[in-house]
Amino acid sequence: MSSAPIGIFDSGIGGLTVARTIHELLPNESTIYLGDTARVPYGPKSPETVQRYSREIVDWLSREGVKAVVVACNTATAHALPALRERLAMPVVGVIEPGARAAALTTARGTVGVIGTAGTISSGAYRRALELELPGARIVERACPLFVPLVEEGWLSHPATRAVAEEYLADVRAAGVDVLVLGCTHYPLLKPLIGDVMGCGTVLIDSAYETARELVGVLQHHGIAASPDAVVTHRYVVTDDIERFERVGAVFLGKPLTGVEHVNVEAVVINAP
Ligand code: DGL
Repeated sequence: MSSAPIGIFDSGIGGLTVARTIHELLPNESTIYLGDTARVPYGPKSPETVQRYSREIVDWLSREGVKAVVVACNTATAHALPALRERLAMPVVGVIEPGARAAALTTARGTVGVIGTAGTISSGAYRRALELELPGARIVERACPLFVPLVEEGWLSHPATRAVAEEYLADVRAAGVDVLVLGCTHYPLLKPLIGDVMGCGTVLIDSAYETARELVGVLQHHGIAASPDAVVTHRYVVTDDIERFERVGAVFLGKPLTGVEHVNVEAVVINAP
């Protein structure tokens, strides 16, 4: 057993949907959530840049004494998960494998849709994970880059968001998928709208829930779950503006968010003469 906190990180606010589910499923666990708000969005950035950001963040979390890391960002999971697993001597859970596993178990037709940021979709990480879980599956992928700013704007059921969703999801719907993976931290907030556009024949897979469930098993497997009488604390840390994170983050977290701290996680680069 271990009372050390679990480190959770995301490019910004969206990963709070994962933190929220972890708090619900693992009420005895303490957490440190790091939102890299100074460098968000990760979605359009190169794999190398996202890997460097992710390394800097997990190094910071390690120094804070976390016992496990949850990569709550789909784009960071897509580009950096294997490298982070090599780097850290502790369990590292990403959001893609749990989501793909749930999709494979849920689909009846073997036709699965995946939506995510440009980086997540172009990495092919969901496709590879789904092909492992469900060989022969028909996979239909679509990058939906405008969803992130629309969610950040709070336009969860706005007509503009609906028009964008109709456009993005037309091909996925036409392909007859019976399962759609919401492969981005922000998309669970659009669940009602996406569900409406896709129709009732499509099950939406929320990676946040699947990831929290995977974490339960990982902590047990490694014998590092917190004891039932552990004192629970939740720290929230950002690399940029605190006020906006507290205001918008409360929507993602589903409860008031206060006491957020600011840190600089960037590695110091020393240029040799
Ligand atoms: N957190 C990112 C993800 O899940 C979405 C926001 C971003 O582009 O950084 O892919």
